[in-house]
Amino acid sequence: MDQLIIEGGRPLRGAVRISGSKNSALPILIATLLTDEPCRLGNVPTELRDIKTTIRLLEALGKKIAVRGASVTVTGSGSLKTQAPYDIVKQMRASVLVAGPLLARFGLVRVPIPGGCAIGLRPIDIHLKAFRDLGAREISDHGDVILSAAPQLRAGRVRFKFPSVGATEHVMMAAAVTPGRTIIENAAREPEIEDLQDFLNKLGAAVKGAGTARITVDGRRQLRGAAHSVIPDRIEAGTYLIACAAAGGRLELRGARARDLSAVIAALRKTGARIAETKNGLSVDMRGRPASVSIKTAPHPGFPTDLQAPWMALMAVASGASIVTESVFENRFMHAAELASMGASIGVAGGQAAIAGVAGLTGAPVMASDLRAGAALLIAGLAAKGKTTLQRVYHVDRGYERVEAKLRAAGARVRRVNPARRRK
Ligand code: EPU
Repeated sequence: MDQLIIEGGRPLRGAVRISGSKNSALPILIATLLTDEPCRLGNVPTELRDIKTTIRLLEALGKKIAVRGASVTVTGSGSLKTQAPYDIVKQMRASVLVAGPLLARFGLVRVPIPGGCAIGLRPIDIHLKAFRDLGAREISDHGDVILSAAPQLRAGRVRFKFPSVGATEHVMMAAAVTPGRTIIENAAREPEIEDLQDFLNKLGAAVKGAGTARITVDGRRQLRGAAHSVIPDRIEAGTYLIACAAAGGRLELRGARARDLSAVIAALRKTGARIAETKNGLSVDMRGRPASVSIKTAPHPGFPTDLQAPWMALMAVASGASIVTESVFENRFMHAAELASMGASIGVAGGQAAIAGVAGLTGAPVMASDLRAGAALLIAGLAAKGKTTLQRVYHVDRGYERVEAKLRAAGARVRRVNPARRRK
């Protein structure tokens, strides 16, 4: 298995190009199931493991896919399978998002129920209740859920108990091919929802309200093909901003959009980082040690849960104490113990972590337990003195394209090794 070797303690300097958003590209790729006509998607982070998995999933369901660099063409008309393969859903929970489009188009779908993962149980009850509210019947069978709607789903009103990102996307897609008006209340407001709305509208649906808590979808039975370019990855951009604040230096993030990162930029400014919009994106300039700043994660526009772990790595080297509160996921502090092995002082109780910043971390062998925990350890490694060996890099590869190449271009000493391969 690949490892990253990081020789830390060097400031970052230079420019990093931000890739297309993983969490936007994923539902948009899945939304191509709504049409029989060709779709051409640009700025897709095709090197990410989760995007490769999504492409395999679409192929397994009957679509044909051509990938060229960051552009993906999806074709294939007519007969799609209505059963999602277990081995793919098991690898990537977001695969369940194929259920809604297939149910809405064909009246029947069978998908495995994904289990928990390192960051919590992650049930799909909000998704299932919404489909029941739209007239679906649900049967459980050997770990699968079978949803049926005869003759088809009914447009109507859905109200979420929590603004789930996945459930919002899921219902938007299904409603886009369900004639009539569907209203989603307490919808998630993430930028990725707005990107999906733009794509669905290009396909010929009439969707409004993304970015607010109330989304209205006027569905049409048949949608056409479309071309669309995916928005930049705000979480990748936020990760590099935080990395530069932790390691010091000056970095330009080409393609990053300030408006998607307002809570993170506000928190970073309080640490002493100087952040500015440039012609090409965003720049960050950090001199000296960061000041400590407490944060609490919340659905957008709050502080994103996906940057909670990176933030904890930054606070580990801040001057003073801070509290990090996780309010979106139940178990997203696996990185705390690994950071402690590098010299961080962190106490975790329930959904809160108390961090006493230390003057410096020391490189150590550490292990990524999930994607964003991996990003946090990478940041800690960049800020630490000495050598950090980050294991289970495959988690990082789910969400960060060419991470070592991008960091190297910014002056970091990071290389990928595979000890097993070397021994052969
Ligand atoms: N939840 C339920 N029931 C549901 C759905 C969600 O209880 O039916 C709970 C979850 O267990 C969690 C909370 O609601 O505690 C938030 O879940 P949400 O549905 O909003 O998240 P998601 O759609 O599963 C997406 C991103 C995550 C990101 C979250 C929150 C994708 C593919 N994934 O997940 O990204 O953390 O929104 O912003 O878009 C990542 O990229 O590292 C990642 C985990």
